[in-house]
Amino acid sequence: MQKFHLAWDDSRHTLGIASIDSQHRGLMDMINALAEAVAHDCDCEQARRHMANIICDCKQARRHMANIIRFTEEHFAHEEDLMRRHDFPNREKHAAEHKEVLRQAVTMMEAIKPDDIGRAVLVTAFLTDCAENHILREDKALALYLLGKGLS
Ligand SMILES: [Fe+2]
Ligand SMILES: [Fe+2]
Repeated sequence: MQKFHLAWDDSRHTLGIASIDSQHRGLMDMINALAEAVAHDCDCEQARRHMANIICDCKQARRHMANIIRFTEEHFAHEEDLMRRHDFPNREKHAAEHKEVLRQAVTMMEAIKPDDIGRAVLVTAFLTDCAENHILREDKALALYLLGKGLS
């Protein structure tokens, strides 16, 4: 597996709120599918250097990105609904971070031009980091709060 693969690690990634955990797992699966598509395209890119007649583009990577963004929007809406219903004190800051992550992801996806595998690779690295950092910081704080409210 190439370097953008993000492995689910129960001891780090499981936050204890079942609906959030299963969506995070789904999101990681989707990012890994994107990483595989990018790795595949990278192979094509390498091959193309040797065989000028091989044509490849980042169509697959862009399709995965669009799915990730759709899924992430639904996931963020779910977390924001939980924050509202349970009066999470830090909800405005957390929701603002969601908005910023989505804005950046959409901007990046739109910037991936056919054949621009270099940018697709950068976008994959960004999403991988971003997902893990957000889960381990903001979402962890939210989950601890919800656990304290008796949710599971
Ligand atoms: Fe979140
Ligand atoms: Fe999350």
